[in-house]
Amino acid sequence: MIDYDKLIARKCYDMKPSGIRRFFDLANAREGVISLGVGEPDFQTPWNVRQAAISSLERGKTKYTANAGMVELKTAIADKIRKDTGVSYEPSDIIVTVGGSEGIDIAIRALVDPGDEVLVVEPCFVCYAPIVSLSGGTPVALETCAEDEFKLTASQLKSKITDKTKMLILPFPNNPTGAVMDRKDLEEIAEVLDGTDIIVLTDEIYSALTYGGEHTSIIQIGDMAERTIYVNGFSKAYSMTGWRLGYVAAPTPLSKQMLKIHQYAIMCSPTVSQYAGIEAITSCDSDIAKMRTEYDQRRRWLVKALNDIGLSCFEPRGAFYVFPSIQSTGLSSEEFCERLLNEHDVAVVPGNAFGDCGEGFIRISYAYSLKHIMTAVERIAEFIKTV
Ligand SMILES: Cc1ncc(COP(=O)(O)O)c(C=O)c1O
Repeated sequence: MIDYDKLIARKCYDMKPSGIRRFFDLANAREGVISLGVGEPDFQTPWNVRQAAISSLERGKTKYTANAGMVELKTAIADKIRKDTGVSYEPSDIIVTVGGSEGIDIAIRALVDPGDEVLVVEPCFVCYAPIVSLSGGTPVALETCAEDEFKLTASQLKSKITDKTKMLILPFPNNPTGAVMDRKDLEEIAEVLDGTDIIVLTDEIYSALTYGGEHTSIIQIGDMAERTIYVNGFSKAYSMTGWRLGYVAAPTPLSKQMLKIHQYAIMCSPTVSQYAGIEAITSCDSDIAKMRTEYDQRRRWLVKALNDIGLSCFEPRGAFYVFPSIQSTGLSSEEFCERLLNEHDVAVVPGNAFGDCGEGFIRISYAYSLKHIMTAVERIAEFIKTV
């Protein structure tokens, strides 16, 4: 008998499966569950985008593209970044990736050597620390808290920098907290990084979804673009999760290295998705505006409703999540979520799936219709009465 466990690379074997997935598996095993768990827009991909993809197939555009992506798409991406931030990238410094996920992966793998430390703002999306570990680096948590509106503060950053720090991962607007970093907050972070050799990986996959204020990117601050790898994509803004399309932009010496990993591991992003991406990025501003307005209505309803039923909830200003505290119930995040699922058929995600400091919180997604959200909140309210 082969002992497979013994054969698996230790770094892979030791990697924990995502805490989000575990909850979906539990929820999927039951009937009649209302989920507020998924981090995926509930809207259809705009029709003109789907049509562009269909047309590309009809025209037989089914071959590989250039490794880094089609020039037309990279040019459109460069134009969009310039329009949004004022920062100019040559299309040759842009790599079209398989979702923002691949952009994060190649950025970390291109930079991190064994022994390097990578600062990861937590709570956060689940992939950063495992990829750092796979690269032989050490993830170092920068734990944010509700009192600071889940923002990273300059003093916190300063306190964790060592001579081994290679990278700071800055994930704002944030999944799961919905926190954003304003220009002033980013200026303070930039001041700490000034004069260091630390590279920032800014994951701005939710940049199109901010409420009550413009999104600011760290690449807009001083000369930060020179030390930043910028990741964005189509999944959240254009409701294109299944198309697997994202991009990364970086200074030439970094993009050249990331491209090698992309080249060998991926070859190129799906051709049909790249055609769809050109249509999305050049003609869907009004679709984004409509979706944003609807998310905003749900966000405002949900924050008020959760506070009203006694789950104290920080007002998120980005993405499509709220991150209420469940500490008043006396339950741990996992107990809360398991009991809510088993006793009231509502699926939400325990906050500790996003880092230890997420304990005492749950993540609720409002990428669902208001009717669906209202029913789920009624059930949550009933549940809270019983604990
Ligand atoms: C913060 C964050 N970054 C990146 C991703 C990955 O998105 P993509 O579908 O573009 O790979 C997600 C997906 O949930 C996310 O929440």
